[in-house]
Amino acid sequence: MKSNHLLTPHLFLVSLLLSFSWPTLGDTHRQHDSFLQCLSRHPSNAGSISSVIYTQNNSSFSSVFEFSVRNARVSTPTNPRPLVIVTPSHVSHIQATVNCSRSHGLQVRIRSGGHDYEGLSYVSQVPFVIIDLINLRSIDVDTENNTAWIQAGATIGEVYYRVAEKTATRAFPAGICPTVGVGGHFSGGGYGMLMRKYGLAADQIIDAELVDVNGKFLDRNSMGEDLFWAIRGGGGASFGVVVAWKVKLVPVPLTVTVFTVNRTLAENGTMLVHKWQSVAPKINEDLYIRIFLRAVNSSRQDGTRTIQASFTSLYLGGTDELLPLMQESFPELGIARQDCIEMSWIQSILYFAGIPQSEPLEILLNRTATAIIFKGKSDYVTKPIPETGLEGLWQRFYEDKSKSLELIFSPYGGNMDDIREWETPYPHRAGNLFNIHYGIAWGEEDVASSQRYINFMRRLYGYMEPYVSKSPRRAYMNYRDLDLGTNNNGVYTSYKQASRWGLPYFNNNFNRLIHVKSSVDPDNFFRHEQSIPLLRR
Ligand SMILES: Cc1cc2nc3c(=O)[nH]c(=O)nc-3n(C[C@H](O)[C@H](O)[C@H](O)COP(=O)(O)OP(=O)(O)OC[C@H]3O[C@@H](n4cnc5c(N)ncnc54)[C@H](O)[C@@H]3O)c2cc1C
Ligand SMILES: *[C@@H]1O[C@H](CO)[C@@H](O)[C@H](O)[C@H]1NC(C)=O
Ligand SMILES: *[C@@H]1O[C@H](CO)[C@@H](O)[C@H](O)[C@H]1NC(C)=O
Ligand SMILES: *[C@@H]1O[C@H](CO)[C@@H](O)[C@H](O)[C@H]1NC(C)=O
Ligand SMILES: *[C@@H]1O[C@H](CO)[C@@H](O)[C@H](O)[C@H]1NC(C)=O
Ligand SMILES: *[C@@H]1O[C@H](CO)[C@@H](O)[C@H](O)[C@H]1NC(C)=O
Ligand SMILES: *[C@@H]1O[C@H](CO)[C@@H](O)[C@H](O)[C@H]1NC(C)=O
Ligand SMILES: *[C@@H]1O[C@H](CO)[C@@H](O)[C@H](O)[C@H]1NC(C)=O
Ligand SMILES: *[C@@H]1O[C@H](CO)[C@@H](O)[C@H](O)[C@H]1NC(C)=O
Repeated sequence: MKSNHLLTPHLFLVSLLLSFSWPTLGDTHRQHDSFLQCLSRHPSNAGSISSVIYTQNNSSFSSVFEFSVRNARVSTPTNPRPLVIVTPSHVSHIQATVNCSRSHGLQVRIRSGGHDYEGLSYVSQVPFVIIDLINLRSIDVDTENNTAWIQAGATIGEVYYRVAEKTATRAFPAGICPTVGVGGHFSGGGYGMLMRKYGLAADQIIDAELVDVNGKFLDRNSMGEDLFWAIRGGGGASFGVVVAWKVKLVPVPLTVTVFTVNRTLAENGTMLVHKWQSVAPKINEDLYIRIFLRAVNSSRQDGTRTIQASFTSLYLGGTDELLPLMQESFPELGIARQDCIEMSWIQSILYFAGIPQSEPLEILLNRTATAIIFKGKSDYVTKPIPETGLEGLWQRFYEDKSKSLELIFSPYGGNMDDIREWETPYPHRAGNLFNIHYGIAWGEEDVASSQRYINFMRRLYGYMEPYVSKSPRRAYMNYRDLDLGTNNNGVYTSYKQASRWGLPYFNNNFNRLIHVKSSVDPDNFFRHEQSIPLLRR
């Protein structure tokens, strides 16, 4: 425990500034007990809150905590654990937790799917409580109006499954990995194979329910358009606890076509990746072609070491239409009929998630996933990277520490160009050719190894600088990267400090987010290492 959380937030800050004040064990216990009493006595309670409260004494505390940890790098045993985890089964439990955390000077971390790259939904350096939405995950699909109400604790796999269960001609445009939670994903943007046709998950939101800093339960109408705007790309965790989203479903044909073709450097890989940059963002918006880049045989000295570019595609139609389209726009890739597989949209969800087609669709309801140790980063590219730039990039893949390095190039254009930058906080629209996702995972659990891989990623990021967006160099908030900057959990963050991550993530929308934040949460209760700061006072 680093601080005396019996102090009011203001005094708490002063004590942080002057020196750390170390509480006695007795203070911590009293604090804790009083918080738990507050929860159970809270007037909003439906009466059942004790069954959703886990203290460190509960035998299932660790398993509840670990269940939605996705990045083992940030959940090491030496990292702080929450004092309490609440898994609300009713909105009133969220209201009580927000109210009691606030009155007891405890920070709240909100977790839906737990996929935050830096673990900000489950780790904090000050005494904290996790609101884990795992029990609030109902999904109501309305096929008459082609909409759905989705509770924030649902995963995108559950969303896809529930939509497909009701209709074969509607879909929802969001990410690839089925265990990603909609609480974080939709509030930070959320993109996948339908992005060029329909935009982001956040672009489909037409209503939302949220518990604000005063414990009030709001919908679009009562929260107002500013707050409703902010949570569709600005990250929910700076503004309140999102309880549910209402979204539009989008049309898809009964048959879609997928293909994956791998090309090594000996198979003209460099030329194909180079050409792709000017093809994929411009091609018919029914066609999405992304590239996964990996090293193959990187440690072999026998000359078989190479880079593999895996062109992975979804076409909203049949093979007969896809082939002429590829022949016309990208003949060099050499797509043949036997590369193409026709299937339903929901089957394509399994395909892109790397799940065998033989598995039952119910696998999409499985929330169990293994935590891996990883570091991610992102970039946006506005001008094609020259072949020499790509060749330099390949060299990075061969460095020792890069065996599990993977880059994903995801094309923009299409519908993304039609949505103006300010319509949602997510600013990366027209003018972007593609997004780069950098990911590296490793097996060693010690801090020194982690640091080596992280340093490798920083050098790679440095190498890419001349080839990517500038002033600001843009980044995707859902690929959270604390290297951009952090406010160290501070109550007050200067604009200059916060702009180090605020401008890359939100560009010109950052100022409006600061205004919304200042008006809905003026005491900065909902905060984390990269939350939206308050206006200068
Ligand atoms: C394996 C993997 C694959 C991914 N694939 C894609 C992809 O294809 N496309 C894509 O766009 N992104 C992808 N992402 C990134 C993903 O969109 C983000 O990590 C997203 O924020 C995860 O949401 P979550 O609810 O699972 O995460 P959490 O860790 O639970 O939350 C992430 C952030 O949102 C906040 N938050 C969560 N729930 C709420 C809520 N109910 N109210 C308010 N704030 C909330 C958290 O406090 C935290 O700050 C992927 C991530 C991983 C790990
Ligand atoms: C956790 O333990 C407390 C008592 O220590 C109990 O009141 C509470 O119901 C337990 N929570 C769960 C979810 O079992
Ligand atoms: C946890 O258990 C210890 C003793 O095992 C007890 O002193 C403490 O009060 C308990 N805390 C809670 C929150 O139940
Ligand atoms: C469709 O929307 C209308 C208008 O909002 C509503 O009255 C109707 O109940 C909805 N249909 C279903 C099946 O919920
Ligand atoms: C939360 O606490 C505030 C202030 O104590 C109170 O006005 C409000 O009614 C509480 N909210 C709920 C939902 O109980
Ligand atoms: C492409 O390469 C990946 C490994 O990088 C492999 O899993 C996949 O089966 C290959 N696909 C085809 C169509 O060869
Ligand atoms: C590489 O490209 C050249 C020129 O376009 C072509 O002649 C050759 O067949 C291609 N090689 C492979 C393996 O596709
Ligand atoms: C990797 O090396 C093995 C063994 O030499 C070889 O069979 C394989 O084709 C190589 N992979 C690639 C993509 O060249
Ligand atoms: C869910 O997924 C996990 C991890 O992949 C797996 O171990 C488990 O068997 C799956 N459970 C079911 C019911 O399929």
